[in-house]
Amino acid sequence: MISYLEKQKLFTLSNGKLTYVIHVSDRGYLETVYMGKSWEGQAEDLLGLIQIKGAEYLHVPTTEHRNYDKHYSDALELSSHGLSDKRHAPILVQRKNGSYVTNFQYVSHKIYGGIAPLSQMPCARGGEEDCQTLEILLKEESRDLYLTYYLTLYRHINIIVKHFDIHNRTSDTVFIDRAMSMQLDLPSDNYDLVHFPGRWAQERDYVENHVVDGVQEVCSNNGRSSHEENPFVYLKECGATESQGEVIGFNLIYSSNFKFRTETTRTHDLHVTYGINDEDFRWKLHIGETFQTPEAVIAYSCEGTDGMSQAFHTFIRDHLITYAHDKAYKPVLFNSWEGCYFNFNTDSVISYIDDAIKIGTELFVLDDGWFGTRNNDWEGLGDWFVNHSKIDLHKVMDHCKEKGIKFGIWFEPEMVNPRSELYRAHPDYVPGEPDAEELSLGRHQLHLDFSYDEVVENIYQQMKAFLAEYPVSYIKWDYNRVVCEHFSRHYPAEQQGEIYHRMALGYYDLISRIRRDWPDIMIEGCSSGGGRFDLGTLYYCPQIWTSDESDPAQRLTIQYNTSLGYPLSTIGAHVNDHFITSYKTKAQLALFGTYGYEMNPNKLTPSEMEELSEVASIYRTYHQSVIEAGTLYHLLSPNHGNRMCMQCVSQDQSQSLLILMVKLKEHAMSRIVRLRGLDPKKRYRNSYNGGVFSGAYYMQVGLSFSRDIMSEFACKFVVIEEVTE
Ligand code: DGJ
Repeated sequence: MISYLEKQKLFTLSNGKLTYVIHVSDRGYLETVYMGKSWEGQAEDLLGLIQIKGAEYLHVPTTEHRNYDKHYSDALELSSHGLSDKRHAPILVQRKNGSYVTNFQYVSHKIYGGIAPLSQMPCARGGEEDCQTLEILLKEESRDLYLTYYLTLYRHINIIVKHFDIHNRTSDTVFIDRAMSMQLDLPSDNYDLVHFPGRWAQERDYVENHVVDGVQEVCSNNGRSSHEENPFVYLKECGATESQGEVIGFNLIYSSNFKFRTETTRTHDLHVTYGINDEDFRWKLHIGETFQTPEAVIAYSCEGTDGMSQAFHTFIRDHLITYAHDKAYKPVLFNSWEGCYFNFNTDSVISYIDDAIKIGTELFVLDDGWFGTRNNDWEGLGDWFVNHSKIDLHKVMDHCKEKGIKFGIWFEPEMVNPRSELYRAHPDYVPGEPDAEELSLGRHQLHLDFSYDEVVENIYQQMKAFLAEYPVSYIKWDYNRVVCEHFSRHYPAEQQGEIYHRMALGYYDLISRIRRDWPDIMIEGCSSGGGRFDLGTLYYCPQIWTSDESDPAQRLTIQYNTSLGYPLSTIGAHVNDHFITSYKTKAQLALFGTYGYEMNPNKLTPSEMEELSEVASIYRTYHQSVIEAGTLYHLLSPNHGNRMCMQCVSQDQSQSLLILMVKLKEHAMSRIVRLRGLDPKKRYRNSYNGGVFSGAYYMQVGLSFSRDIMSEFACKFVVIEEVTE
């Protein structure tokens, strides 16, 4: 998979799906020779590319500069800063004399099986049989500042993971002003950039534009990966489709401020950098210390966007999520929030449980409102003890046990209301300058200063005491505001640029301790819906609440777009009782995620209950084999037309589920959908018209849906199953 040609100083990373070639120049710069479709020839044949490009570059006067080789390639693995290369350098470390020159050169390298874990952050997993890592040590010419560049290639997936470690072996403290995780220089700017901006209840809109001539940034600066942009982005060769063309996807295993940046050069190349957002970032690195950047994940596909999506899905399921029971069946979940909000008591919760069971519920979750004085969103956060005057939690849990279902609970560990015992006792537990006239409230709450260990410890102890008394099976881990004042009174002035990142490390510290001490509890991530839907959170949480918007009108694009970068099994999807579509439509869409409910079950009619329990039984039959472990195909994109169609196929190609929805009303029209991923030779019955056809027929001719009127958000849901007799 990874090899080194000593004479040519050429690294080749290749796995039959992609090839990545790096050359060490005479002066020790890492030049990108090639990244693309698997190269079947000799790696050294590719070296010619550098020379051709170098010749072009000789016309640029700056190549005369001492830092460039004769055969300079403008495709580098790591741009320097403060010298001739004026593109954005991923790493920037100030010198003792104030100079910003940052310029690393090759020292040595190692190649080994597996991937080394990061010490304080979530990261990719993989043993010797799964992946290989190339570790390149670089050093600055005139000071003992070292950099380790890690590239890991997975054996069976078209995925590369990259990050840097910065080591201060100088005799002085240094300040890091930028610590991004990767650079990728592409020899063309003929790409469209796809990213997913949004807002609360409207997460992950789809935006596609030709890469901007100049600089374009996709970023978050609010302390979470955010609703406003998602860290999943991709570059798509112009004209690429779901199944054809080159697509390069990027994501970051991180939950806080990120920046994905593209820069076109005057030679029409594309310079990509990705990592922690450098806005307000400054890290003091003491003598002997190392700073680790989060891991960036690159999915390379020459088979369209689905090749990229499927690579991310496999990587996330097999090499990221650490919850040991992830591949086990996920119970049908009922969440109390939208049914009763803060207004419940022991009896009403028990009556919810009884009716929820009638629609197939296997895990009942009591959401916000059970602790402290929390009867509205003005108070209680930070006081994680049961409000006994409101709820008898033992009685509720005993009831669930008696009925044979699991019980789960809601927490929002990183937050505090000013009206709480915790805040009254520890006003210094929130970030913000001590003499500030007021601190910015979001949903009437403040962020806790998770950069300060004592705060993390306090919340851990409170959660520990709760979990010791109430052995829940599930936690919903919410996060309902952004970081505004990123100032900690527990750090000196020169370290205030560290606070955003330290708060992210505090989040990881707490959640990893909970995971370590209660490994059987499943934690579902949440942040006002899907404001922290990212790889950092997925490392701990096998599923994330995708959006507070459950109505298919919005949901169909939210789920579809989320599934372009994340597996369906991670997408929390509930049936609610608001707005315009039928329960059945909502339930069928929720099947393309991890299924659940969020409504007042006491109001359901017997026929609605029957309808929902039928869908729940479809979930029980097909979720694990088709949705959880299967392969997803995006057949029709709601971003490019009126229809949305997804199809998921089990690994053994014996079962498949398909959903087709329209956004606007459609009159009589031809609706033939060509399926994918089936075995052409097998025969399959479809539940839409009961017909039995070969896989080849479904994929070449297609499944024809009726020409009748489809009203707004109408849905066709099909089970396709192998017929063996
Ligand atoms: C925001 C979440 O997205 C909701 O599902 C719910 O848990 C509320 N917070 C509770 O405050």
